[in-house]
Amino acid sequence: MDRILVTGGTGYIGSHTVVELQQAGYSVVIIDDLSNSNREVIDGIERITGIRPDFVEGDCTDMQTLSKLFADYPDIKGIINFAASKAVGESMQKPILYYRNNLNTLLNLLDLMGPNGVKGIVFSSSCTVYGEPDENPVTEKAPIKKATSPYGNTKQISEEIITDVINAGAPFKSVILRYFNPVGAHPSAEIGELPNGVPQNLIPYLTQTAIGIRQELSVFGDDYDTPDGSCIRDYINVVDLAKAHVIAVKRMLEDKSDAKIEIFNLGTGNGVSVLELINVFEEATGVKVPHKIVGRRAGDIEKVWANPAYANEVLGWKATSTLADTMRSAWAWQLKLRERGVM
Ligand code: UD1
Repeated sequence: MDRILVTGGTGYIGSHTVVELQQAGYSVVIIDDLSNSNREVIDGIERITGIRPDFVEGDCTDMQTLSKLFADYPDIKGIINFAASKAVGESMQKPILYYRNNLNTLLNLLDLMGPNGVKGIVFSSSCTVYGEPDENPVTEKAPIKKATSPYGNTKQISEEIITDVINAGAPFKSVILRYFNPVGAHPSAEIGELPNGVPQNLIPYLTQTAIGIRQELSVFGDDYDTPDGSCIRDYINVVDLAKAHVIAVKRMLEDKSDAKIEIFNLGTGNGVSVLELINVFEEATGVKVPHKIVGRRAGDIEKVWANPAYANEVLGWKATSTLADTMRSAWAWQLKLRERGVM
């Protein structure tokens, strides 16, 4: 089977995608600088799939590292690019880091694809490109709003770069996937999300509170124009999300579409509030999450959820996990981290 280069493949979504790729029969080589992950993730992938993916420790912003990788692996046919910095708040403090990491990585990959005979690249984009949408659920035709953070801007600029490069006649295709809010862990609890330091995202903060690492979860605002006043998001199971990448890669490599660029929303189609999510977690696991309402977090969107109909129809993909199962998987992963003494 064809070999796929997974940049950022030891990260959260990357590692789950490597599992699905290997289970679908693809050979994988991962490149990751381990800036927000660690080598043990590769052991987890091997325990789940029985196959140890090839791994190169390196930084994709370094052209020489990437050139050597393509020379060492002349059989790479597709790329899934997860290598990026992804913390919204940090991007406000360190814009140069974000622009350099996220954009140079993409430019280097696009530059090397043609000469190395790579047929396509799947790009990790985000619902953040829609900003505060005029209507929900959001389709792919919704207008792109001005980004409110350097992180969000890197996603918008990256989509434009890919479009410009392909329109200029590049000999490859791209599938751009706009994720809503990825959550949960592999059902085996061998891999999951492992944020550095104090988590900024809801689910890792919630599970760390439930297990007692954090005292209390702050719910950022209960005065939004939503039924219970807390923000609404579309929480998508990370394994469901990973499976969409395998379909996207196959679609490009097997030329199943005439289009050279395709864009898909990946979400469940269900909007869930922060308070509802806490309830689902508590009911699914039987574990209480101490929480309090605090003020709004700067930059938060009030409500956003996907219309995934286009992905459902064209990719034949659908998010199938229940939110309760997803919450149980996140909890099982947190318990596993404790068992291993990680945290
Ligand atoms: C943000 C980005 C998204 C990015 C994702 C992952 C925007 C608009 N969205 O999503 O593009 O891919 O981060 O880094 O930039 N919440 C709490 N308490 C907490 C943490 C979060 O109440 O301690 C609430 C937030 O207010 C929000 C929801 O939980 O309503 C989800 O927050 P979070 O997990 O941080 O993701 P987003 O901000 O939606």
